[in-house]
Amino acid sequence: MSKSISIKQIIKPFNKTINIAGDKSLSIRWVLLASQTTGKSKAYNLLMSEDVLAAIDAIKRLGTKVKIKNNYCEIYGKGINSFKYKKNLSIDAKNSGTLGRLILGLLIKSPYKIKLIGDKSLSKRDFARITDPLKKSGAKFFYKKKGKLPLSILGLDKPKNINYFENKGSAQCKSSVMFAALNTVGKTLIKAKKSRNHSELLFKYLKIPIKIKKNKNYDFIELENPKKISAFNYKIPGDISSAAFFIVLTILSKNSKLLIRDVNVNSSRTGVIKILKKMGAEIIFKNQKIYRGEKISNIVIKSSINLKGINCPTKFNSSAIDEFLIIFLVAAKAKGNSYFKDISELNQKESPRLYWGSKILNMMGVKTKLTKDSIKIYGQPNLKIKKKIIIKNFLKDHRIFMMSTIAALTFGGHWTINDSDSIKTSFPSFLKILKKINKKEL
Ligand code: S3P
Repeated sequence: MSKSISIKQIIKPFNKTINIAGDKSLSIRWVLLASQTTGKSKAYNLLMSEDVLAAIDAIKRLGTKVKIKNNYCEIYGKGINSFKYKKNLSIDAKNSGTLGRLILGLLIKSPYKIKLIGDKSLSKRDFARITDPLKKSGAKFFYKKKGKLPLSILGLDKPKNINYFENKGSAQCKSSVMFAALNTVGKTLIKAKKSRNHSELLFKYLKIPIKIKKNKNYDFIELENPKKISAFNYKIPGDISSAAFFIVLTILSKNSKLLIRDVNVNSSRTGVIKILKKMGAEIIFKNQKIYRGEKISNIVIKSSINLKGINCPTKFNSSAIDEFLIIFLVAAKAKGNSYFKDISELNQKESPRLYWGSKILNMMGVKTKLTKDSIKIYGQPNLKIKKKIIIKNFLKDHRIFMMSTIAALTFGGHWTINDSDSIKTSFPSFLKILKKINKKEL
């Protein structure tokens, strides 16, 4: 039985400085790419969450040596496609879409079938979006149920280079094909709707031949396979998707201030900040620097009194894709209505988040109008919850748990929130950091 937490009181005013755990996207990418390098790579502040540990376990099963020390992790790469493993290998991506999807790109040369499995949540998610483009290399996929895990991949000796139009704005799809390009000869061409660009920045830093042209809506990526990738060290910056919960906690709390140190504020990830600022939130970036192509910054947030509703421009959707749930709470408190559209991808996440997000707002007494790909939220600046609210296990969705916790600490009511174990996938220290701010165990 997974544990639940109970919250009966809103948080007291606070003025604190915190550090946030390492970025999940970058942590998983570092693990997978380090396994393709030649030599010893080292990462500091690697996110030690279940998703990242599953990535480490996957490359170990594929024959890569990994050492986890107190404050760093070492991976001993033996080169591109150097995986060595026995027949009937099975890899468990657990709850991680990023791992399950990206690793398939690295396996298009596998001489034996490799089985990929995941937990209940991941097994409901779409994998055809990855296997369709990867099939163009000649790799074969075997499913029990079309487009779903478990599946098996069988690679080939000379996979073909891929030409791919990515039209969902999915960084996972784009990155999987980019990873596949490490194993194909000739040019890989990707036309991709805008999405997070960590893979591109890492490829550039690693001197993998990559050219990128951009227009307003699409990026055009041209890639060639490198002969070798040198081992590399990396200090993973803080995850803005995790920071977002504390940003909103501060915005919605009275007379409070928070400084969050060293967060990755790559503009392909900061939709949440742009949206919240448009809604009237006070958020400032301080001491910005560039690290390996990524923008890192301290973030200062203050309580915001005059929040206003937003008709959210769809251009922010992909750069805020993991933060909509927490943004919905700000919309619930804003003056006027908010409208978020073209966000059907939210229902493709660890749980159908658009649906559950709306349900939770309704439980809080906030009116919504929901369609398959949009939500209208009727803001209530004076909302104070007095009733009991029970949040059940929503398919092990960490972000549903954290959104509910922030709602309970800012809107009041008597909440029981199930499945605190779900945070282990992305942000195991969430409750510990909250305790530091709240001075109270939950
Ligand atoms: C991720 C991309 C996003 C995001 C996920 C992490 C990544 O998914 O929701 O949490 O690391 O590439 P999509 O690319 O499917 O939109």
